[in-house]
Amino acid sequence: MAVTETGDPVDRAEGKDIAVKFDGRRCIHARFCVTRAPASFLADVEGPWILPDASEIEYLCSVIRECPSGALTYERRDGQSEPVPPVNLISLRENGPYVVRADMSLDGEKAGFRATLCRCGASKRKPFCDKSHKYIGFEATGEPPTDKGKKLAVRGGPLAIEPEADGPLEVRGNLEIISGTGRTVACVDHARLCRCGASKTKPFCDESHRRIGFRSL
Ligand code: SF4
Ligand code: FES
Repeated sequence: MAVTETGDPVDRAEGKDIAVKFDGRRCIHARFCVTRAPASFLADVEGPWILPDASEIEYLCSVIRECPSGALTYERRDGQSEPVPPVNLISLRENGPYVVRADMSLDGEKAGFRATLCRCGASKRKPFCDKSHKYIGFEATGEPPTDKGKKLAVRGGPLAIEPEADGPLEVRGNLEIISGTGRTVACVDHARLCRCGASKTKPFCDESHRRIGFRSL
């Protein structure tokens, strides 16, 4: 087991044809892995819990790609890498985080294709979600109204997410914001998304972070 700069563990499990990586800072314990590939992802065990060779490789990769937080990633020895998402999406979880699927950078660093980002303001692992929304009773609809404005000619490409200090997530790049049920809420190429939890125009920032004295650190 390696240890990151922040002291959080990153596991790497080597299999015959694949290495599986787990970044514990990102995991939101949605349990897709342990319920969909229980032979490879062991729940509630001491010691090694990822057994790459216990599942068929294509199935294992498909389960890893379902991991919403991006905590799980893989490196195949045949060189096949995870496909780049063809459409950049941020979906709004009811009373929960932003779920991102995009070729994303965070704060200027490559950040993979999947992430769950805090939108309640309470995570201790910002910009990532740590499930604090559950404990603070965060309420935010996952079904805001559709903005019938802009359409995107190109729907993929790099998506840069810059968490502003004590402010919103500034997002640049082609992006569809979708509701929890998959309805298009807005198509944008630039947006400032609320992450303090207080905006009255969620998912967009309305400067409420100043009023509530939001601190992002
Ligand atoms: S977030 Fe990913 S690693 Fe964590 S439990 Fe869910 S599927 Fe597994
Ligand atoms: S970050 Fe919430 S209103 Fe600006």
